[in-house]
Amino acid sequence: MAAERALAMATCTAPVNIAVIKYWGKRDTDLILPINSSLSVTLHQDQLKTTTTAAASRDFTEDRLWLNGAEVDVGHPRVQACLREVRRLARKRRGGSEDTATLGLLSYKVHVASENNFPTAAGLASSAAGYACLVSALARLYGVEDELSEVARRGSGSACRSMWGGFVQWQRGERPDGTDSLAHQVAPETHWPELRVLVLVVSGKKKPVASTAGMQTSVETSPLLKHRAEVVVPERLAQMIRHIRERDFEGFGQLTMQDSNQFHATCLDTFPPIFYLNDLSRHIIALAHRYNTHHGHTKVAYTFDAGPNAVIFTLADTVDEFVEVVRCSFPPATNGDQFVRGLPVGSAALSQELMAAVVTEPVPGAVQYILHTKPGPGPQLVDDPSQHLLGADGLPRRHA
Ligand code: DP6
Repeated sequence: MAAERALAMATCTAPVNIAVIKYWGKRDTDLILPINSSLSVTLHQDQLKTTTTAAASRDFTEDRLWLNGAEVDVGHPRVQACLREVRRLARKRRGGSEDTATLGLLSYKVHVASENNFPTAAGLASSAAGYACLVSALARLYGVEDELSEVARRGSGSACRSMWGGFVQWQRGERPDGTDSLAHQVAPETHWPELRVLVLVVSGKKKPVASTAGMQTSVETSPLLKHRAEVVVPERLAQMIRHIRERDFEGFGQLTMQDSNQFHATCLDTFPPIFYLNDLSRHIIALAHRYNTHHGHTKVAYTFDAGPNAVIFTLADTVDEFVEVVRCSFPPATNGDQFVRGLPVGSAALSQELMAAVVTEPVPGAVQYILHTKPGPGPQLVDDPSQHLLGADGLPRRHA
């Protein structure tokens, strides 16, 4: 019956994830196979998500792709790899059966439209959510229900971890064909209800060295990275999984900070060196340590990816106070209302002692805004047809 349909369409949403044991370095750049396993927390889609609609029609004359309303080149090798792999799984699944509906769809061209509900310019990890969403929407379109992290990995390494909610490990795998380089869930998003995430957006600028190029130079030149992948990460992964299972914030937070710091140390050990942290990142790092020292234990933990934005993990009972500390340390330049976004944040009065010990040398305007979020689920199917990003003509119908 579906074979007669002129247009088939599916829409999904997918989350951003933030690694607490970082992925940095590939052993196979084409298949995107990492030199070490990694572990991340999937962030809630109420605050950060990509939405993607994939459509197939016998009337389409070519594959086309729109990102945030603007048409882009669908020929990008990573986009093509994802398309090819989902179609291959769809064919394999049908296994030569007479499912004319899928066979019909597979011979059609596709149109894909994708949008982020957060500013791309904010430098938040959009490629992970983007490729996870592309693969989820295509899989829905073709009725593929297989394990899909292997396909999302072909778009962007970190994207495979966005195929699951909660706490997610990407197993490096051993096989040269990558069939065992997969993501799986360590614990669901409901496992640690008090865990909160504050994204300190500090820069709208594009990252200086793209991660794909940067990590390759690191693989080629950094002895520290080799040591990290072979010796440090295997130990840390086991520890991190234990801290998560036990909901041990002290252990989780310390290891998160140490692993972020070591990732940036491997960047400095790269030749020529790569700098993702800037003065402001170092300011935030020092602030977090002063805050923890003041309280006598780890209440906040920072982590930084290939850009200067800081991501802070904390527990719900600390959010109000720490947000106030950030507000006092980086007094917002203009509209104070917009400074805190996402989940609600209550007010907090800081004691004299805390102010004196923690809020030293404020830097006005340095933090653009804080996004308050928490761990969340993996990709979701959007049932409501009014939410499709493509219209009945197969073209983008609106631009957020
Ligand atoms: C620092 O997944 O963006 O965020 O596989 O080349 O697309 P490619 O790289 P990407 O690298 C992410 C690096 C990181 C750490 C992490 O997310 O684990």
